[in-house]
Amino acid sequence: MGRCCRCCRCNGRLLCMCLLPCMMTGHLLIYIMVSIFVTISYSPPKITTHYVAPGFSANSAALASHPLSPFWNLRLQDNALWNRLQHAWDRQHNPLLRGNATGVMRKPKANTDTEVEDDCVSDCVSQKCLLPRMNDFNGLPEQMKAFIRSMHCREYPLLINQPNMCRKNNISLDLETPMLLMAVKSQVGNFENRQAIRETWGRSGFVKGESNRKGGLVRTVFLLGRQDSSMGPHPDLKNLLDLENQKYGDILLWDFKDTFFNLTLKDLLFWQWMQRHCPTAMFVFKGDDDVFVRTGALLDYLHKQWQELYQWRPHTNDSGIDLFVGDVINYAMPNREPSTKYYIPERFYKGVYPPYAGGGGVVYSGSLALRLKEVSERVRLFPIDDVYLGMCLHRLGLSPNHHPGFLTFDLPQTDRGNPCAYRSVLLVHRRTPKEMLTLFQQLQNLSGQC
Ligand SMILES: *[C@@H]1O[C@H](CO)[C@@H](O)[C@H](O)[C@H]1NC(C)=O
Ligand SMILES: *[C@@H]1O[C@H](CO)[C@@H](O)[C@H](O)[C@H]1NC(C)=O
Ligand SMILES: *[C@@H]1O[C@H](CO)[C@@H](O)[C@H](O)[C@H]1NC(C)=O
Ligand SMILES: *[C@@H]1O[C@H](CO)[C@@H](O)[C@H](O)[C@H]1NC(C)=O
Ligand SMILES: *[C@@H]1O[C@H](CO)[C@@H](O)[C@H](O)[C@H]1NC(C)=O
Repeated sequence: MGRCCRCCRCNGRLLCMCLLPCMMTGHLLIYIMVSIFVTISYSPPKITTHYVAPGFSANSAALASHPLSPFWNLRLQDNALWNRLQHAWDRQHNPLLRGNATGVMRKPKANTDTEVEDDCVSDCVSQKCLLPRMNDFNGLPEQMKAFIRSMHCREYPLLINQPNMCRKNNISLDLETPMLLMAVKSQVGNFENRQAIRETWGRSGFVKGESNRKGGLVRTVFLLGRQDSSMGPHPDLKNLLDLENQKYGDILLWDFKDTFFNLTLKDLLFWQWMQRHCPTAMFVFKGDDDVFVRTGALLDYLHKQWQELYQWRPHTNDSGIDLFVGDVINYAMPNREPSTKYYIPERFYKGVYPPYAGGGGVVYSGSLALRLKEVSERVRLFPIDDVYLGMCLHRLGLSPNHHPGFLTFDLPQTDRGNPCAYRSVLLVHRRTPKEMLTLFQQLQNLSGQC
């Protein structure tokens, strides 16, 4: 620019010709500066604080916050089966539409969308139920078909139960109050995983906090279904399982096929079991048998949440804290790739998934578990268990909170052998039984090492 303007002293016309580019450049600069200023000074609209309990801010990282999207979609997605069935339930459970003449749910009329599904409830064994209406049912993958055929069934008998898991002793019926009830989804054949968990992060009994804080009582149960023989015969592991249960008394086995799309049943049936046999548990960990949990650190974290609660609500009794943390996934779309395990066809479910906590494990409060159990009675079964949990939370007006300590996708490869890399980790997926034992050893004295 300096050079351009020096030449302009010569005469008027030259001056004009020179000034023009100068002015244009000047304008351009002003424009750029204004745009930068606007961009910098823009701040996203302030989201108002949501409250989940009187006087208790949900913006604190630990508490389940209210979702910002509308509460529940009441519009009917007519050609997606799940949406259609859920819509029918929403109408039935809506007190404004239902009326209260008898206090009993009104039977839907025969020609509505619900014609078949609700008459089937009692008939889960023989599967004589008519199938819900659906386009091209036979074109669906096998696991989807199996799911649809049995998605109205929610009651399965317990074949192995642990009624005394949370009892103080054999004589009295008094319940103890575990700080953490760990519910681990396992399969009959995974003896080695269960044993490694018992010896490491899932040890039942009093567990010390990691930073020498209080720690707490931990109880662990394993959630199992029946071995699935539809894919061919299995070695008969029944006696081994009985033996294992005699020794450790921590197996819950239900009479349904243990398949991927039936995992949701484990959540549902576990809530039922908990309400009956261990309703006093303060927090619940629910996870898979191929993860590693730093239980001591988790207990520290839960104590901290509990303390924060009392800081905010010193005068209330402990009627409940709505805590739900995990590795949260927002705005996930159903997988539409037919060859994958997670495939959900559009004619089964339409729409985005609600926020949900994915992967190996989540932690929620005991009181929330009981509320989830209640609300799940009004949410149709969904084949992917994590998503179903998200759906139930959404129905309660809550959404899960993300915690960076839940590593569904593991640490970077180079850090996995370094104990100090685990300092901020609460859960990591995935570890073999042997790795669990090694890691447990390595992490024994973390605060001394790092
Ligand atoms: C609704 O029905 C239940 C069960 O019969 C009854 O206890 C309740 O009082 C009714 N509520 C209203 C508002 O009528
Ligand atoms: C508990 O009591 C039952 C019968 O009431 C008895 O069979 C069982 O052996 C007792 N268990 C323990 C651990 O004492
Ligand atoms: C779930 O278990 C039930 C009962 O065993 C079975 O009928 C159904 O086919 C199973 N569902 C899937 C998707 O495997
Ligand atoms: C907790 O407080 C609420 C209201 O303040 C009361 O209704 C409830 O009975 C109390 N629960 C216990 C266990 O004390
Ligand atoms: C933990 O590590 C510290 C520092 O290396 C050491 O002084 C301490 O004795 C260790 N504690 C145990 C229980 O190994």
